[in-house]
This record gives sequence, C-alpha cells and structure tokens, in this order.
Amino acid sequence: MNREDFLMTKQDIIYLDSGATTLKPKVLSEAISEYYNDYTANAHRGDYDISLKVDTLFERTRYLVSNFINANTNEVAFTNNATDSLSKIVLGFFEDYLEEGDEVLITKAEHASNVLPWFELAKRKKIIIHYIPLDEHLKVTLENVKKAITPKTKVISLAHVTNVVGDVRPIKEITKLAHDENILVVCDGAQSVPHMEVDVKDLDIDFLVFSAHKMCGPTGLGILYGKEKLLKQFRPVIVGGGMNSSFEFDGTVIYNDIPHFFEAGTPNIAGVIGFGSVIEYLDSIGINRIEAYEKELRKYAIEKLKDVPNIILYNEESEAGIITFNIKDIFSQDLAIYLNKYHICVRAGNHCAKILKDDLGIKNTCRMSLYFYNTKEEIDKLVAALMNPNIKEEIL
Ligand code: ALA
Repeated sequence: MNREDFLMTKQDIIYLDSGATTLKPKVLSEAISEYYNDYTANAHRGDYDISLKVDTLFERTRYLVSNFINANTNEVAFTNNATDSLSKIVLGFFEDYLEEGDEVLITKAEHASNVLPWFELAKRKKIIIHYIPLDEHLKVTLENVKKAITPKTKVISLAHVTNVVGDVRPIKEITKLAHDENILVVCDGAQSVPHMEVDVKDLDIDFLVFSAHKMCGPTGLGILYGKEKLLKQFRPVIVGGGMNSSFEFDGTVIYNDIPHFFEAGTPNIAGVIGFGSVIEYLDSIGINRIEAYEKELRKYAIEKLKDVPNIILYNEESEAGIITFNIKDIFSQDLAIYLNKYHICVRAGNHCAKILKDDLGIKNTCRMSLYFYNTKEEIDKLVAALMNPNIKEEIL
C-alpha cells in the first residue's frame, strides 16, 4: 500500500523492521527541507514573519496530533521519544504521587523504557513493582490483572501492543477496572498508535506515550499525552528557556502552563513540522485501512511461515504485525545476518524486553515487523530464504 511514497522501497531491500523504526515518506523530507531551506527560525521566541510562521506550523502539528488521538491540544507535549516521555511521567509525576509501599503493576513483556524508570523510582521511594502474569500465549488477561490488583496498587503501566509478542492488550477494559479501584493507567503506545486507532478519551487512558519515528515521522520526537488535571500536577523535570514566564534573582520562578511547561530548550522544530505533514499523510490513507491491511499481511505471513522447516513461532496467536521466531539450532543473530545476505532486514536479540526470557523460554529471537508499505511478495521472499535447504551450511 502506498509504496511509491517511500523512496527506500525502490532499493533492493526488504524492510521488515518497522517495529524498530519505519521508512519515511517523501512528505517528511520535503517538509523538513523546506523548514531548513526556506524559513529557519526558532519557535515561540521571535516577532518576525518567518518566526511567526514557525510558531504556526509547530502548533499546527500539536493540533493534528491531538486530533489523531482525540486529545485536547494542551494535553499533548513534545518530547524526544517515547522513552523520554515515560521517564518524565514516572519521575515528574509518580515520584510525588506514590508513597512508600505503593504498588505498580507492569509485566515481564514490557520494553526497558517501561521497566527501568519504575526500578529507578523503587530505589528512591521504596515502591513495590509487581508483574501481572502472562497467559500461555504471553498475553495480558483481565482476569490476571484483577488478581494482581491489591489495595496498595496505584498504577498500571503497560504497552498497548508489545514489541516482541505483538499482542494487543485490552486497555479499555483494564482502564475501567483500574479506575474503579482508583488506579491510574500509563499506556505505552509506541507499537499501537502507528498501527491502529487509539482514542485516549474512549480508552480513558491517563497517560499515553509514543514516538514519531515509528509512524513515518522523524527520529528524536516523542509525544507525552496526559489528562489535563494530571499534567498540571507535574514537577518540572527539565527546566530552562521556553517553559518559564519569569524568574527572579531570589529563586522565584513562574513556569508556563502545559503543554509548554514540558518543552524546555529549543525543540526539534524541523521534526515537529515534518511530523505534521506525516500525520496528514497517515490521515489521508486512514488508520483503519492501515490496520486492516497489516492484519491481512500478518495472516498471510503466519500461514506461509508455518511451512518453514524447524521454525519456532513464538506469537502465532497475537494480532499485530509483529512476528517473532527462531529456526531450531540457529542463533537468532546468525539468522538475521544470513537474511541480510538476501537484503532482508529483521531485528534479532531480546528487543529491549530483557525480562521476557522467563516466559518466552528463550533470550533471543528474530522479529519481523510489518507496516503498510510491505507486500505479500516480500513475505514470500523471506519465506523462500528461510526454506533454503542449505540454510545451516550457509550460516556456518
Ligand atoms: N523499541 C524498538 C524496537 O522494538 C527499538 O525495536
């Protein structure tokens, strides 16, 4: 779908690593070059025409992103990436919100960015981290969430879609359950927002994070969404210009209101403006069409991969375009290097989910991750490379 919009699809490459970062459409580089070549100026600091143009386009992206997730514009802040957003949420909000002995629920399938900030907070505040058990398909069930909640549970922090297993968590139901018990929900949307409709009001999520580069946008740009009343309770994590309205020699400071409160220093202006064009581009295709196409590709890939001799599929039952596998007796990284000989790009390793190994039964896997520009022909080429009867000899 829309392959011609991506210059890299003209190369002899089969790109199956969109979970790591996606290819970029021409509209992104065009918008970025235009900013750098035609109207470079800082944002929110100048009173001349090109600077005002930058302000308008910068805030336009905020408006487009807000619409994309059905948030209010002041609830969307720009950060460096989803990791940055999560750390800011944990250290800027939960450090004050939680008290010693309070419990945080996560799972062993979470990405490092949704584990390590909680570990850090546990050292500082003596909070307790509990893991919601995963079922036999490595999924989160409502039943297991219910069982894991105690009177001390104050926050549930989960990926919407995990980056190794590709399971879609029942966030709406989890949020309902959590709110009935006065528990807040943090949702890592890095692998969901690019691939399916995520409506923060409908899901009633308290915080949502995601990264622009995983949805055709630039690297170095993340989104921190939070409900207004919660964002207003943050302490400043990064302080400086652009996020204060005044400060005095005696230490008195008045900070700007949200969302600028979160945006100290000169932001990734080119990236933000480019991301605005990307959101318009994704809107023109339609997120529901993207989701449906990826589901079809996934189904096709699973059917084909099942016929590969000695393949181990770890997430046959999942829903997202992430398929994780190994070939018996071949080390995952060797397999990725072998596939590279055929110009096939997959990711190998633990994929930053380093405590999933207990449930997965293995530390390292190969992961293919799809996006709407992939095709069934590309999947056929992957399958053909994996079917090679001399695969082991070629690797050794
Ligand atoms: N989180 C990214 C991935 O899963 C980098 O590959």
